[in-house]
Formats: sequence, C-alpha cells, structure tokens
Amino acid sequence: MLEPQTRPIPHGHGVHPFPHRHLTGIFGLQPWEITFLLDEAEQWIALNRASAAKHDNRLAGLTLINAFFENSTRTLLSFEIAGKRLGADVVNMAVAQSSVSKGETLIDTAVTLNAMRADVIVIRHDASGAVQLIADKVDCPVLNAGDGRHEHPTQALLDALTIRRRKGQIAGLKIAICGDVLHSRVARSNILALTALAADVRVIAPPTLMPAAIERMGVTPFTDFDAGLDGADVVMMLRLQRERMAGGFVPSPREYHALYGLTPERLARAAPDAIVMHPGPMNRGVEIDSVVADDVKRSAITEQVEMGVAVRMACLDVLTRAQRGVEGWA
Ligand code: NCD
Repeated sequence: MLEPQTRPIPHGHGVHPFPHRHLTGIFGLQPWEITFLLDEAEQWIALNRASAAKHDNRLAGLTLINAFFENSTRTLLSFEIAGKRLGADVVNMAVAQSSVSKGETLIDTAVTLNAMRADVIVIRHDASGAVQLIADKVDCPVLNAGDGRHEHPTQALLDALTIRRRKGQIAGLKIAICGDVLHSRVARSNILALTALAADVRVIAPPTLMPAAIERMGVTPFTDFDAGLDGADVVMMLRLQRERMAGGFVPSPREYHALYGLTPERLARAAPDAIVMHPGPMNRGVEIDSVVADDVKRSAITEQVEMGVAVRMACLDVLTRAQRGVEGWA
C-alpha cells in the first residue's frame, strides 16, 4: 500500500521548488524545470512593458555581481537591468578577454567574489567549464552567461519563451538551427532545451561547422540549407563566430553567404508563417540578409532581446529564493 501524502506540497505551483542551486546549463534540467522557468518569466513581461515603476523589490539588499571575462553587449546589459528591476545592488566586473589565465587565477577570482559576500554571481567566460569551476568554489548561486562553446542557458530559455509566445507551444514544432553550430554555445543550449520540450529539431551547417555525431543529441543534421529549411516553423540563425576559428572553416564570408545566408528566397522554403530568430550580434549580409532580419512580420529578433530581461529576472528570483527564506524554498 502507498504511504499517504504526509509532506506538505512546498509551494504554490503544485510542484517542488526548483531543485538546483546554480544554473550552469540546460543539461541536467528536467522538462518541467525548463517550463517552470518559462512560466515564471511570463509575469515579468508586463512589468517590463510598464511605462513607469518597472520595479519589484524582492532582491533588495542582495548583491549581484556580473563577472564578464568575455565581451558582451546584450547579455551583460540584460542581467544588469534584470537585477536592478528586482531591486538588487548590481556590480559589473568587466574583464576584457585576453591575458586572464585560467586555473589558479580563475579560482582566485572566485574566492575574491565570495569574500565580498556576493549573493548571486553571473559569469561569462571564454573557457568551457569555467563557470562550473567557480560555482564549485562559492557559497552563492551562480548563473552561466556563456562559457566557451559549452552552454548559454539563459539564451536558450529566452529563445524558448519567444517561440512559445509566438507559436503557442513548442512540442511538435519544426525548428531549424542554422550556421556555425560547431562553435556555438547558443546552439548547444537550444538543442538541449528544445528537444527536452519535444520540438523536432534540425541543425543545418556546412560540414566543417557541423559537430561530429550531433544526431546523438536527438537532432537531424543537414548540410544542405534548402533541404533543412523545408517546412520549418522556426528558423534560428547563428553568428559565424570567426573569433573562435583558427584557420579556414569557411572559404570566405561571401561564399558562406551564398550557401548558408538566409535570404528571402531561402526563407520561402520554410513554413509560410515561419519566424526568424538570431541571438545577436548579427553579421548582416553574412548569415542573414537585412531584409529578413528587419521584416517585422517574420523576425522575432527584438522580441528575443525583450524576453531576455524577463527570463533573467525569473532566474535571479528563483535561484535566490532559498537564501531569501521564501516559504517552501529553504
Ligand atoms: C551569443 C553568445 O555570446 O554566445 N550572443 C548572445 O549572448 N546574445 C552568440 C554569439 O556571440 O554569436
């Protein structure tokens, strides 16, 4: 016989509290945990659209440190705005990418951030795994804002939220992730999130930019852009990440555009109501044409940026609930 339910259900959503201390990746998250974060983000969209009083003070008195060891415009700004809208004291530590060595220096940095009694730390670093290394050394929640080619979980969450709002659901959608998949943490986190949410995910890349054995992630690979786009509901373009390429992965940006650039003619192969996405920054005229990027009916690119703030507010709120003593989260 089953034991009667004696433990109280911990909080108002009818499920357990989010059971992770850090957000280092989408890997390891259950589908309900991803959906939970998306549901939590919905509440912040209206607040962010308010013309005044975009404030909620639930993080008042907490210190958020944004430690960006790699360049960023929208992710850093988005985390800064998210923290400020929730009332946190936000400090940005912008370390230009370059001579910061890994190993001991990174651990020293973690110890320093910890000694300053940060309450939540957001990290971007050019080395895959660096964020986990810091997460293991500090006493507070750590969020990954992009580590090397590994993961960029809040980007995948904001992309999933954008798709869910535009299309009403994610399950069953044909989603094409196109371009420099090999160097892209955005692609990796998106593949993990979108397959977990039961989308039919295709990846389209030139052979040199297609990760080996990618089909093991539950996606269908295509090297022919036109074939991969056929009937797609969502076309997600990726930046050609030349800073991560040593040597000749592509003959030239011009030739790349000819074979893998999203033009209006190519987009016509996708579903008639397909949406176009790009995490930014865009290389206009390389992976995407301006007419497509700026087509207000098809492009969801500015909405992605908008959803980014809501998603980051949700993540900051959820990950600090235990330390704020929110009922059921201790
Ligand atoms: C991406 C990143 O940094 O991983 N940008 C972003 O966060 N919006 C993608 C990219 O740099 O191409």
